[in-house]
Amino acid sequence: MLITNQETKINIKYLENLSLTQDEVKEVMEGLTSIPKSLPPKYFYDALGSELFEKICNLPEYYPTRTETAILTNASKEIVEITGICELVELGSGSSTKTRLLLSAYDSLGKPWQYIPIDVSGEILKNSALQLHQQYNNLSILGLVGTYEQALWQLPPSCLPQRMIIFLGSTLGNFTYEQSDDLFNEVRDILTVGDYFLLGIDLQKPADILENAYNDSQGVTAEFNLNMLSHLNRCFDGNFDINLFKHQAIYNQEKTQIEMYLYAQKSHNVRLNKLDLDVSFQENEPILTEISRKFNLTKMQDFLASHKLKTVKYWTDENKYFALILTQLI
Ligand code: AVJ
Repeated sequence: MLITNQETKINIKYLENLSLTQDEVKEVMEGLTSIPKSLPPKYFYDALGSELFEKICNLPEYYPTRTETAILTNASKEIVEITGICELVELGSGSSTKTRLLLSAYDSLGKPWQYIPIDVSGEILKNSALQLHQQYNNLSILGLVGTYEQALWQLPPSCLPQRMIIFLGSTLGNFTYEQSDDLFNEVRDILTVGDYFLLGIDLQKPADILENAYNDSQGVTAEFNLNMLSHLNRCFDGNFDINLFKHQAIYNQEKTQIEMYLYAQKSHNVRLNKLDLDVSFQENEPILTEISRKFNLTKMQDFLASHKLKTVKYWTDENKYFALILTQLI
């Protein structure tokens, strides 16, 4: 489906295979039948989940969003000076709130340019495209509704001499080492030499700060985590009872990652009709719903460099909680 406004400055394209693919069925099946049980984090983001995530971003304990925003506030002008006008492709744009800092800086160059936000939520993408269109005069928007992998391979040729892929919010933290290796390979293959990749990452820090950020006192993260089960009930015609599960996030020091779990409060069975699957839970049995890896800045730069993505400049906050790395394909 393509939604186009009168001036054709906004296009929203729904990529194929967004509903139930074989892969998705397999992922959920495998996750719920393995030990320990796990589920893919993308199931957090139905309409309510996306709303809850926005709420998390504003929690006092959740430092990443405001820290990255502060870094972007400082760095945007400099980033635009370094790259000049370019086409921006954003992975997981959500409501584009933080990205606006960057978009404003590019738009003030006064030249026509293009922004390609990619997100699994078409609703959010459409709403933010309409808002951005009103705010920025020189901007045309092509929203791609789909997963990163789908969208990256379906990017139209750049309409500007240079392109920058941006991946903010430390969403990379959800990727295993192997998955991030795959993603960086894909980024390298899609960019041409001289193009840019801008990455926001959450850095390693004391466990208590991390655990508080993912076990907030208002219980919003708990609600966000439990909502995944309601979302699965809808997707797969299931009967998870969210009252029988309890949220807890722990910091795994060895793997330097937050692990979010839902613990079954008593032994019981759950059925997912569309998968023809019955799952049995023991008392206190966990489901791993998310990993959020915490990175070392130098190691990440080396990892990027091993994919031909050379650091041009990086920015961080005074506590070194979060970093923004601008790299260029060599
Ligand atoms: C969107 C993956 C960056 O890992 O901090 C926030 C998601 N989960 N609180 C993160 C999340 C619980 C967030 N990312």
